[in-house]
Amino acid sequence: MRRKLLVGNWKMNKLVSEAKEFALASRDLAKKAKENNIDLGVCPTYLSLQTVKENASKDMIVGAQNVHFKESGAFTGEISIPMLKELGIDWSLVGHSERRTYDNETDEKCNLKIKALLQNQMVPLYCVGETLNEFEAGQTKEVVGRQVRVGLKELAAEDVKDIVIAYEPVWSIGTGKNASTEIAQDICKFIRDVLREMFGDVADGIRVLYGGSVKPENVKAYLSCPDVDGALVGGASLKIDSYEALLNNIL
Ligand code: PGA
Repeated sequence: MRRKLLVGNWKMNKLVSEAKEFALASRDLAKKAKENNIDLGVCPTYLSLQTVKENASKDMIVGAQNVHFKESGAFTGEISIPMLKELGIDWSLVGHSERRTYDNETDEKCNLKIKALLQNQMVPLYCVGETLNEFEAGQTKEVVGRQVRVGLKELAAEDVKDIVIAYEPVWSIGTGKNASTEIAQDICKFIRDVLREMFGDVADGIRVLYGGSVKPENVKAYLSCPDVDGALVGGASLKIDSYEALLNNIL
């Protein structure tokens, strides 16, 4: 049985003071989620990670939005896995489409990051998804299949059992243009089929999320799909009321 998972991606939003306010206000929610077998998480900016970790409930997953694959060195502006671990952070997004678009994050680079995270007992939340052009050209499965295969190459079944994949069609992120529940189910199932081909039955335990303009009003419909195990939410995760409504609507 896969536990439901709701993760907020704050992107480049919130001052540390605002992140702290949210963390404190979220304490009861994490408890409520746990009682209902739902995992709840947020991915603040690097600057707010420590504050959120210290002020949120211990049941709240606190993840980074990105990480470098090297332990240390001459990589100006980057953050390493040991730096995150020192703060008790054990999750990180990898390959979010905004990083793929603006920061040249390739499937190969994602693979290095995923391998480094897994070697350090951290959980990669690996984002995949096609652009509007690719969607319109009918290339979704080709693109997503490649992203999954390359991102997870050279890994064994026992390595990947705790990873999480998020299917986020790029054309639906921050646009208010949702993928239909049929598309979400079809592609999340396709991802699980690719995982099964690569890793066997472990695929049945790997959580696959949908992301892209998820809101309190539509979250339940996505999570009712048999292969959608949760949601990665940007805009609607920023305000505590909306974040709470997302949770309440899937209880
Ligand atoms: P959105 O962002 O919910 O604002 O569309 C989702 C994401 O980028 O993870």
